[in-house]
Order: sequence, then structure tokens, then C-alpha cells
Amino acid sequence: MIILSLQSGTSADGIDVAVVEATTSGDRARPDLTLVSRWTRTLDWEPELRARILAYADGECLDAGAHTALTTEIGQGFAAAAATAVAECGLEPDLVVSHGQTVFHWVEDGRARGTLQLGEPAWIAEATGAPVLANLRAADIAAGGQGAPLMGLFDAAFFGPAVDVASLNLGGIANLQILRPDGSALAFDTGPANVLIDASVAEHTGGVLGFDRDGALAAAGTVHDGVLAALLEHPYLRQASPKSTGRETFTLAIVRSALATAGVRLELPDLIATLTRYTATSVADALRGSGPEVRTVVASGGGVLNPTLVRELADALARDGVRLRTSDELGIDPEFKESLLFAFLGFCSWHRIPVSLEHGIARIAGAISPAPNGFTLPAPLDGISRLSLAAAPHPTGEHRDD
Ligand SMILES: Nc1ncnc2c1ncn2[C@@H]1O[C@H](COP(=O)(O)OP(=O)(O)OP(=O)(O)O)[C@@H](O)[C@H]1O
Ligand SMILES: [Mg+2]
Repeated sequence: MIILSLQSGTSADGIDVAVVEATTSGDRARPDLTLVSRWTRTLDWEPELRARILAYADGECLDAGAHTALTTEIGQGFAAAAATAVAECGLEPDLVVSHGQTVFHWVEDGRARGTLQLGEPAWIAEATGAPVLANLRAADIAAGGQGAPLMGLFDAAFFGPAVDVASLNLGGIANLQILRPDGSALAFDTGPANVLIDASVAEHTGGVLGFDRDGALAAAGTVHDGVLAALLEHPYLRQASPKSTGRETFTLAIVRSALATAGVRLELPDLIATLTRYTATSVADALRGSGPEVRTVVASGGGVLNPTLVRELADALARDGVRLRTSDELGIDPEFKESLLFAFLGFCSWHRIPVSLEHGIARIAGAISPAPNGFTLPAPLDGISRLSLAAAPHPTGEHRDD
């Protein structure tokens, strides 16, 4: 089947679109699943809409009318992105999985109470003619879970039972998945990845720059130990897992308060160097504090494109004897690993396979918006034996040297 995966992460840096072919083999009730990315691209948000998304996620109040307009326009943005993908790759999806745009992840006293992803799926169903699975996190929260991070589901199926591997996704927030010998994954958000770096760059440049391209600012700056120490006092970092967080917890307010505690003002390169070290240190601390013996961390997400962050992280992990690799070394495009996760989750829900996050209660993820012509569900499956990825076949006639 063809699954079209749509998502915009906490950074709202663009709509990640992947058209994924899913094939099964082996056991009928519990097959092996192979995913092939046939088309991937990150499409820009319309700048004015992106500004409204970030303002809302950062705490701006909207009335019901403005909220309605926002979720409608985000849904239309996803629909247009899906239509572009279908037109360009020529593959009609059997299912669209839309993660939506997270604007709030509601956690109180360490318990997730709710989560809000915007983007009305009906627009996507109209644009593609396919059913749309959305609202992927709610069932887990209603069952007592954190609803996040979801990446452990993909990793548990992809890596299988493992004792010494963890995966790390460096999006706005960083999440860590530690594979266990029983085939499950201990997964939790460690804290910030890029969110504070992006917000500080945007604030200091009046929005001219949105992130530290290629880690150049961080590379030019010097870490301020006092500010770093104040940032590392954040209570979320001490909280026991399972835990999840969002950009509402890691805002510029905590940066201002750390600067005030240390009694300094920092030039932008020094601030970004400090925030980059903060991400690296908080990830390494989280891994060290999590028990199981991990020898290799496989990183993905947009943060992998920041060489200063990758170097800081590699150094921090190396002090504990842990080696950092990036997911492309294992055949996973770091920028589209989450797209594959959502395609995988879509395949599971489409076949009524319940999935369980950290608390171990399994639920079928998501809610389906029917295609304009309705939809027919396939026979249910008991589960997936093994997940593997395959490279896309080259288009007919294209010459390949290797
Ligand atoms: N060339 C680059 N140099 C430095 N940083 C980069 C580069 N490309 C991307 N990034 C960083 O990666 C971020 C986007 O990463 P990603 O798309 O994985 O995050 P996200 O959309 O917030 O997802 P998530 O939901 O996982 O938090 C950008 O906001 C930026 O900080
Ligand atoms: Mg993104």
C-alpha cells in the first residue's frame, strides 16, 4: 500500500511530506513490513501562517474564531502539500497519515493531560481522495500514557531486541529511545534540541535568521559556564522518565532567567554556543541517568545538520564511552525518520494493531477521516514481526553507476 505521511514538527520549520510504499512478507498474521520512501520533501509554510502557528504555540491567546481559522488553514496547508506530492510522484495514496501541527502538549505533575495537534484532516481527504488518519497521540494519553515520544515504536520494530543502542531525535525537542532486550524501548523527551537555539537566533536578529545555520554562530562563540549551570538547573531535566515536554516548557523565559542568575549579558555567538552545549549536556546526562548500558546513539532530526551540535554531542557522549552515529549510516534519512515513523504508525492503525508506549497499555492510535468515497479497512493483523527499510528503486531508464 502507499502511505502519504505529513507532519510539521515543534519548530514548524516546514511540512515534511513522504510518500512511502509499505509491503509485507512472511507470516500472514504477523508479517515482516518493509517501507520504501518513494518521494520526500519539506515544503515551506506560508510565512504569515507559520508566524501565527509559532505565536499560538508560544502562548498567544486566540479566540474561537481565530483558532478555527488556524486549524482550517493548517489543514489546507497540509492538503496542498499532499496534493503536490501526489502530482509530483504520481503515486495515489491508499492512506494519508497526518500528525498535524502540535501547538500544545499539556503536562501537569509529570502526567500528560492532553495534547493539541492542529490541521483539519477533512481538507486533506478532499485534496487526495484518501482516508486520513490523524490525532495519533490522544488514545495513549486517555489510557494514562504520555502520548509522546512516539519514536520508540519505530525503533523497537526496526532495531528489534537490542541491548546497547539508543536513538536520538534532534527536533525542536530532543527525544531518546533506549532499546531493551525484550524488544521494547524506553523513550522520553530529554529537553531542548533546537528550540532555544532557534528562538534566540530569531530574537537577536529580529526574525531575519531562524536558526544557527551549520552551527556557525555556536562555533564562533564561547560557552559561558555560569549560564550553562543555571540552565541545567531546569526541573524538567531532573524529573524521572517516562516524561514528555514541549516548546511551551523551554521558552526564552528560561534563557532570560539563566542570564539573570549568572548576572551576565551574552553576545549572540556566546549565547548560541552555550545553548548548543546545553542541548548536548542535557542529552548526555539523560542517557547516563537512564540505567541500561548504551554503547551507540543513532541521531536523526534537523539537529544532525548542525555540525557544532553534533560535535558537542559526540564529545559529551564519548566521555561516557558512547559513540554517536547519524541515522543515514543505517539507511535512514535523518530529516525524514519521523515521516517513516508516522507511515509505520499509520500502517499499524490501518490494520488495527495496537501500539504501546512507555506505560505498556496498547491502544490503536489515531482517528480516521473517511475518503470522499468512503473507505474499506483491510483484514486486521496481529502485529509486525520486523520492520525493515529498503532503498527506492531507480526510475526506469535512469542509469546508475554504483
Ligand atoms: N543546516 C542546518 N544547520 C543548523 N541547524 C539546522 C540546519 N537544518 C535544520 N536545522 C535545525 O533543525 C530544526 C528542524 O529540525 P526538525 O525538522 O527535525 O525539527 P521539528 O520540525 O521541530 O521536529 P520535532 O517535532 O521532532 O521537534 C531547525 O529548526 C534547525 O534548528
Ligand atoms: Mg521539522
